[in-house]
Amino acid sequence: MTDIPRELTSLEAAAQAALEAAADATALEQVRVRYLGRKGSLAAVLRSVADLDPAERPAVGKLANEAKQRLETALALRREALEAAARAAALAAERADVTLPGRPIPMGRLHPSTQILRRICQIWADMGFQIYRSRDVETEAMNFELLNIPAHHPARDMWDTFYTTVDGVLLRTHTSPGQIRAMREYCPEPIRVILPGMCYRYEQITARSEIQFHQVEGLAVGRHVTMTELKGTLVSFAHRMFGAGRRVRFRASHFPFTEPSAEMDVKCILCGGTGCFLCKQTGWLEILGCGMVHPAVLQNGGYDPAVFSGFAFGMGPERITMLRHGIEDIRYFWANDLRFLEQF
Ligand code: PHE
Repeated sequence: MTDIPRELTSLEAAAQAALEAAADATALEQVRVRYLGRKGSLAAVLRSVADLDPAERPAVGKLANEAKQRLETALALRREALEAAARAAALAAERADVTLPGRPIPMGRLHPSTQILRRICQIWADMGFQIYRSRDVETEAMNFELLNIPAHHPARDMWDTFYTTVDGVLLRTHTSPGQIRAMREYCPEPIRVILPGMCYRYEQITARSEIQFHQVEGLAVGRHVTMTELKGTLVSFAHRMFGAGRRVRFRASHFPFTEPSAEMDVKCILCGGTGCFLCKQTGWLEILGCGMVHPAVLQNGGYDPAVFSGFAFGMGPERITMLRHGIEDIRYFWANDLRFLEQF
């Protein structure tokens, strides 16, 4: 009688125990090689079956094959169990605790000038005015002559100018030269545009004056544009900008490129008209200059002043922001101090 069946039994028991003990894929592979590999113990036993008496061989061979089957099944099961455990461990390690408090993300914000410009443009857009983009670098002719300000006109004193090294080329001192450009582009069609943009003046920088600031110019040209329309339009703007009940007034003024010319004031938004430091005890805040486009300017834009008329206005967004928030120093706008900028 052969010993093989007993050998098989103890080998199978040892292999099963080793499979159970294998703690990971590497250990499991070592067990597989040792018991089930081509040079492993089971293969050795199977080889010895060949040496048996032919009468014993089938029964013992069958036992051996059955043992091999069982061990292979057990190996596969153990492998799956280990893989599942590894997956579960990885998932547990990567698990996010959704109950942890979030980390605040520092957020940028829009510059106060950008905010007010957007608001102003929105209001004019609602009233049917399109945005017309003009240029920052202008010719002397556009900035002055064509706006009825000849070379030695005393009004040039109002705009101290940054000239470039190129003769007759300068940084615009106001957005009004855009009026000429818009007229020349649209002529002879009617015009309703606003022209927002940066302006530059060669000034001593103080709390009240900067070398750069924005303006929003407005221009309407057509066959029946009247002073009444100018006033109605600007009152409507003031009500949208400062609130429906806000009182406004027009004061006669002078600009070379408008005739007649005026300035519009709103009732002081701080004291409501009783007088305070913001309105310098007058009860009123000046917010823009305006007037009917001068016939010479219409002509320079290509429109016949006998047929066409127009109105124009210009306002300073920084000034409006200063009034709205009681800011006393215009230098804050371009000083890049976050303590200022973060308040908007
Ligand atoms: N350009 C003028 C200024 O810079 C403002 C203005 C524009 C006045 C249009 C009348 C009409 O002060």
